[in-house]
This record gives sequence, structure tokens and C-alpha cells, in this order.
Amino acid sequence: MTKSRMVFYSELDDFEAWRKALEPEAIELCRNEDITDVDGVRSALVWKPPHGFFQSFRNLELVVNLGAGVDALVGRNDLPDIPITRLSDPRMARMMAGFVLFAVTRYARDIPQFEKAQRQRRWHYLHPKDPADITVGVLGLGELGLEAARECARHGYRVLGWSRTQKDVDGISCSSGAEALASVLPQSDIVVCMLPKTRETDDLLDAGRFRSMKQGAFFINVSRGSVVDEPALIEALQSGWLGGATLDVFAKEPLSEDSPLWDMENVLITPHLASIALPSSAARQIGENVRRIARNEVVLSRIDPRRGY
Ligand code: NAP
Ligand code: GLV
Repeated sequence: MTKSRMVFYSELDDFEAWRKALEPEAIELCRNEDITDVDGVRSALVWKPPHGFFQSFRNLELVVNLGAGVDALVGRNDLPDIPITRLSDPRMARMMAGFVLFAVTRYARDIPQFEKAQRQRRWHYLHPKDPADITVGVLGLGELGLEAARECARHGYRVLGWSRTQKDVDGISCSSGAEALASVLPQSDIVVCMLPKTRETDDLLDAGRFRSMKQGAFFINVSRGSVVDEPALIEALQSGWLGGATLDVFAKEPLSEDSPLWDMENVLITPHLASIALPSSAARQIGENVRRIARNEVVLSRIDPRRGY
């Protein structure tokens, strides 16, 4: 079988793991610096490549974003005019759903209060609430967002899902469009942000929107920090309007050492790892798209650079 050559760039991901996972797909993955015949490169697997990266590959036919969020690619002016795909991997979605369920459960079961009580050697019994009495608002019902929303519904929470276009999902009360957000936020005890970074979502969750949430509500952000006006979030947490936040993503990463978020007792910080691209399961989709390109067929999970996701 003739192998298709793909160039790799990522400062975070394991090249060897991806090279091995793509071998059975008849893809020869090469590091940029190891390529001698640039014209033989047909596709690229990249996470945040440097500006100008694509220029030398004249025969590129496909760019695969090594992740779900494509914001680092679509905003730039050096993109070739060829299909750009995102990773679409059920195991990546499961991993995200697991993280979201953990963060939701932590608040629903009052775990931060028990952590505090433990530090004070205090037996602090709080009768657990029925999950059906806890409303979880999930903003963004995409591949990862929908799986996370379903996971919460499976655990008995009342789930409100919000997206750009209307969805109809069993067990989730769905709404769409700017106006509906004004109804989802005040109803939710826990708000989970699963929105991509786009022109429309930048700073979407601002002071007014945090104020419109229930007093004492919890906020979980696992998508992109840019969706949040960070100073407004800090204010909402410091004033006690919000009960707490679990933040995996930030406006600027790594989060700066002097951010007040580090010292806030009601904030849990994780360093952007709620979910990752898993070579063993994601390789199949990449192989399928490379074969589709070779056959002149439409690729799967193509993103729309103008829409931003
Ligand atoms: P996706 O499949 O691209 O779905 C995006 C969802 O957001 C869709 O439901 C979309 O609505 C909705 N949306 C977009 N713009 C909107 C707007 N202006 N108003 C309302 N809804 C809007 O994304 P995904 O796979 O679920 O992933 C979500 C994000 O998670 C990614 O973009 C990425 O930034 C982030 N992520 C983070 C990690 C991590 O480790 N922290 C890992 C992977 C991904 P429609 O359905 O109507 O189009
Ligand atoms: C990670 O943040 C991703 O978008 O895959």
C-alpha cells in the first residue's frame, strides 16, 4: 500500500505515539525538521504551528487540527485554502464528559464544603440533594458539549442545553440563540461553558451575564478562557455572587502567576487538560479523511473558518 506523507507539528503532543497510531492508516508521519521532500507532503497534523508553517508545503491537500478547538488556526492569515478538519473522537468526548461530571458532582455533593470542614477537623453533615433538583446549564452542544450534557442527564440532573442552532435531544431541555441564554443562566445552579472561541463568543460571559446567574451558582469553564470576561468573573467570585468556579481554561495561558484566581478558596484551577487528543482512537478518523481526499470525496468534521468552529 502506498503511504501518504503527513507533516506533524505540536509542542504538547507525543510525536512517536501519533506516528505509530497512524502507521496502520498508511500514513507516514514526519516531523517538520526531518522532511527532505516537501513536495511529497500531502497533509498536516498540527496544533498551534508557527506562522508561515504551511508555506513550504505546496502540495498540501488537508490540514488536521490536533484537537477539537480550531481557534488557534482559524484566526490566522497564512492558512492554505484547503479543507481543515478538527479531531472528532468519541473517546475524547468521553474524557471531557468525565471531567465535567466530576466538576458538576463536586458542587452538587458539596465537596468543597467538606474539604474546608476537614481542614478544621469538623464533622459537617449536609444532607445530599436529589440531582433532579439541581439544574445544570450546558452552553454549547457540540461533539464534546453534547456528550457532557448527556452524561449529566444520565446522572439524574435537570439539564438545560444551549447552542447556536436549535437541537432536540432526549432528556435535555434545549434552547438556542442570544435571547434564550438570558433564560438558561438564571435557572441554572451550575453553568458549564463548552463554547468554542469565536468572534461571537468572545467575552460573552460578562459582568451582566454573571449577575444574571443565581446567587451562589457555580461556574465551570472547560472550553476557552476568551468566552469569559475574566475580571468580571473574578469580581463575581470575590463578591460572593458566584459560589465557586472550576476553571480549566483562561484568557491567557499559562495563567499568570499574579492572577488573583490562584488564591481564591472557591476556585479550582486545572491547567487546560479536561480532555486530550488520544492517538489510538483518533487515528482512524484521520486515516479516513486522508483516503477521502485521495478519492476526491468530502472530508468528515470539516470546520468553517468563517464561522470559527
Ligand atoms: P463543537 O462541536 O464545535 O460545538 C460547538 C458548540 O457551541 C455547538 O453546539 C455550537 O452551536 C455552539 N456555539 C457556537 N457558537 C455559538 C454561539 N454564538 N451561541 C451559542 N452556541 C454557540 O465543539 P465541541 O467539540 O463540543 O468542543 C467545545 C470546545 O471545547 C472546543 O471548541 C474547544 O475550545 C474546547 N476544548 C477544550 C478542551 C480542554 O481540554 N479544556 C479539550 C477539547 C476541546 P451549533 O451546534 O448550533 O453549531
Ligand atoms: C483542546 O483544548 C482542544 O481544543 O482540543
